[in-house]
Amino acid sequence: MSKTLSGKKVVQSGARPFVYRRGVLHCDGVGVASLAEKYGTPLYVYSAEQILRRFQMFASAFRERPHTVCYAVKANSSLALMRLLARQGAGFDIVSGGELERVRRASAAALKRVVFSGVGKQVWEIDAALRAGILLFNVESEAELDVLAARAKVLGRRARFALRVNPDVFAETHPYISTGLSEHKFGIDIKKARAIYKKAANSKWLEAAGVSVHIGSQIRKVDPFAAALGRVTALIAELRLDGHDIRYVDAGGGLGIDYGAGDFDPEHQVERYAAALTEGLGREKAHLLLEPGRFIVAQAGALVTRVLYVKKNGAKTFVVTDAGMNDLIRPSLYHAHHEIVPVRQAWGRAAKVDVVGPVCESGDFFARDREMVAVRPGDLVAVLDAGAYGMSLASNYNTRGRPAEVLVDGAKSTLIRRRETVREMLEPELLP
Ligand code: LLP
Repeated sequence: MSKTLSGKKVVQSGARPFVYRRGVLHCDGVGVASLAEKYGTPLYVYSAEQILRRFQMFASAFRERPHTVCYAVKANSSLALMRLLARQGAGFDIVSGGELERVRRASAAALKRVVFSGVGKQVWEIDAALRAGILLFNVESEAELDVLAARAKVLGRRARFALRVNPDVFAETHPYISTGLSEHKFGIDIKKARAIYKKAANSKWLEAAGVSVHIGSQIRKVDPFAAALGRVTALIAELRLDGHDIRYVDAGGGLGIDYGAGDFDPEHQVERYAAALTEGLGREKAHLLLEPGRFIVAQAGALVTRVLYVKKNGAKTFVVTDAGMNDLIRPSLYHAHHEIVPVRQAWGRAAKVDVVGPVCESGDFFARDREMVAVRPGDLVAVLDAGAYGMSLASNYNTRGRPAEVLVDGAKSTLIRRRETVREMLEPELLP
């Protein structure tokens, strides 16, 4: 039986801004083939409209409650995307001094809406964040709280903080990105939190302003969010009894998307998420902070790559593309599934192929034993849902320059990062 696979169903799932028009894949109003011609490949292409729509979904689902969406910069730290979100009033969840600097460049006004997470904050990073007057430090250990108090004293600036508690809640996801169990390095045992808040009250340089939690990433079921927040809410009640003025509850990020070809209704997903958080919060009225990353940017982006060679080894067919694991590491690192579609719609017999990159590792693949319509050298394909943890995890492995990035806004496209050159990659190196 000859099966036709044109990629059409995949791109028409409604959750993605990529559609075929006149047989060519488009990102909103712009043909992807023309972008590849203009800017070369591998190329990340993002839809501004989709990013804004996703952001608005949060705003609408949480409209009943005072909240700030602090976009998790690590998902995609492009300055242009950050500015887009900042203009909508987004805050940012950062995990390094480098990300803090990105916020400053994208929108200095957004610095006051920054929350600083991470288990290994360094003194220079804490200092920079104190000077910038960020909203909240999400503190992950007692030792870090001591350092924060000491730096706040030196700089003469009070530090608003939340303890990031570890609620010991299991959330089904890949083990590398699950964080809410006591066996994980993240957060402070929720049972110990009350005592640490008490101790912190002795320092006039610390202001206990919130409690935060984050249980992991790519979480599809919403019950674990409700469970985690329920525990946090109970803790907040105790903290109030102890006299702490807790004004913020930070629910972290982690809401998952559907990387598959099935129907996925993102709006419904955010509504379910909001309902779960509301359940966990009960009557708690604190200002809610949210730290979504993936949900906002993942499906807005695709990695466009050109087929270099098609080769057979024994029974296997390999489609070798000009993008590799250094450009998008998710399939190699988490065995993550990404749909791959031809840029020029093609019909024909589907065959199983491995789609692989040029990097010298057998782990350098985008898909294994994937049914695809035959592609030829020179053809373009798009790896979908690559907007989150794609470019931000890209590296120069094999001394390969990282891809260029283009932002599509309706019928307009703008280069937001040019392709890295070999000269730039070698520039920091010194020969003794
Ligand atoms: N807040 C904190 C404290 C986090 O650690 C993370 C993600 C987020 C928010 C955002 O989570 P999201 O809404 O994007 O799920 N590289 C992996 C994902 C790592 C997630 C790390 N932390 C991947 O490609 O699946």
